[in-house]
Amino acid sequence: MIPRIYVPCDSGAIALGAEKVAKAIEAELKERGVEAKIVRNGSRGAYFLEPLVEVATDKGRVAYGSVKPSDVKSLFDSGFLTGGHHKRWLGAPDKIPFFAKQTRLTFARCGINDPLSLDAYKSLGGLRGLQNAVAMAPADIVKQVTESGLRGRGGAGFPTGIKWKTVLDTADERKYIVCNADEGDSATFADRMIMEGDPFVLIEGMAIAGIATGASKGFVYIRSEYPHAVATMNKAVAIARKAGVLGVNVLGSANGFDMEIRVGAGAYVCGEETSLLNSLEGKRGVVRAKPPLPAIQGLFGKPTVINNVISLASVPVIMDKGAAFYKDFGMGRSRGTIPIQIAGNVKHGGLFETAFGLTLGEIVDEIGGGTATGRPVKAVQVGGPLGAYFPRALFDTPFDYEEFAKRDGLIGHAGITVFDDTADMLKQARFAMEFCAIESCGKCTPCRIGSTRGVETLDKLAAGIEPEKSLALVTDLCNTMKFGSLCALGGFTPYPVMSSITHFPDDFKPAPQRVAAE
Ligand SMILES: Cc1cc2nc3c(=O)[nH]c(=O)nc-3n(C[C@H](O)[C@H](O)[C@H](O)COP(=O)(O)O)c2cc1C
Ligand code: SF4
Repeated sequence: MIPRIYVPCDSGAIALGAEKVAKAIEAELKERGVEAKIVRNGSRGAYFLEPLVEVATDKGRVAYGSVKPSDVKSLFDSGFLTGGHHKRWLGAPDKIPFFAKQTRLTFARCGINDPLSLDAYKSLGGLRGLQNAVAMAPADIVKQVTESGLRGRGGAGFPTGIKWKTVLDTADERKYIVCNADEGDSATFADRMIMEGDPFVLIEGMAIAGIATGASKGFVYIRSEYPHAVATMNKAVAIARKAGVLGVNVLGSANGFDMEIRVGAGAYVCGEETSLLNSLEGKRGVVRAKPPLPAIQGLFGKPTVINNVISLASVPVIMDKGAAFYKDFGMGRSRGTIPIQIAGNVKHGGLFETAFGLTLGEIVDEIGGGTATGRPVKAVQVGGPLGAYFPRALFDTPFDYEEFAKRDGLIGHAGITVFDDTADMLKQARFAMEFCAIESCGKCTPCRIGSTRGVETLDKLAAGIEPEKSLALVTDLCNTMKFGSLCALGGFTPYPVMSSITHFPDDFKPAPQRVAAE
């Protein structure tokens, strides 16, 4: 058998040089007259080790981390085609601590094979969930998803089964499944990674959702900044259609389901579900008032399931292994696993899938390895640009929807951004208000006007102008935005602002004192 060399084609790995490494390996093989197959796999998610090159040997796979094109010659000299030692040698990928500590259910296959090989997908358990679903009554599928305890991974944590039940129970000749792949939160890349690394799992999840609710058409709304994901998803849909996974007879059954990929034009608010629906319909991405819920009147006024990529991609394992299997992982009302995306100023940045329940401190210090700069961690923002900043004093908070809410925080899409002690939290608070002002859809006053006033007031505070009055005004604005905004963009911007003020009061002292303190 000719040797197989795996070089990720994931855009994160490409950004770190994977394309050049693949070309250098190809050139070296040619020069040495050695025959080997280069397989472009997805990423396993340890970005601090990308480009992570693997070689299939008769003793299993051997990994080499952070490979540079200049390493390639010496890799060949060290006999890397048979797993030889080299300064980049990491051994069996499964034994690398970052991977060994994970519980991979949703990302079980991501990064292992060619993402567009349906045979490889099936060989690792793919399509078993859909196979089970086509033999079941829709209400039983919905029941299984409900009993698994799966909650929406897009941010709000709403129970997926309950949403599906509303669509199932709403009679209409046309219903839709919409996958939210706008992934606008800072520090998040789980949706992108799975669309590029294991696209069939999303297709399978969407087909199951369609069969469960009586929807025969699906759309994936992907942000324009993800061209690799768009290309991979388009190819995967075509392959799935040709193989009968999609189409009028899904896996030979009487159920029909097909889907299309749509590309957003680039607006954070288009990740909000009703804005997204407007955008999909070709309108401006403005938030719609609820009710009606999208589950009752969604895309083109029809009952619509709208779910995040990870919510849908978690369904196949539930339909394959059962609700009890999935529910067994996690804590409290947060069941199953969650792909935590560790980013910012951190040593071991990447995607870490684990059961709910690890503490924030374990994630940042043990998994993330602390800051990349080696300085002390000052704050961690959890849940994207609308998430709260947590100080070290709250590092005992378990990763769980309710536990984070109890401490005025949110999990959101499970992205965490680490900051060292050089971070200025007043600047971060200002950034949150500015972000809201720029991204606001403009429909409601608290968000549209409040965020701009927030920026002005924080600027006054930074300049030491009427500090007490300014601080009181920011707090007042935050209250108005929190309780008066139509959607969570305006409603959650107070979280990063107020958490900064509460946990890092020194950074909000009047300017002369701040300068003196520095
Ligand atoms: C401003 C804003 C941006 C959002 N962006 C996203 C996003 O990029 N991706 C996502 O899945 N959900 C996003 N959401 C949440 C969606 O509105 C919605 O709750 C989600 O798509 C539902 O899917 P889920 O139940 O599977 O989480 C956003 C919400 C708001 C208010
Ligand atoms: S909170 Fe902001 S983004 Fe949301 S509807 Fe109001 S103006 Fe639009």
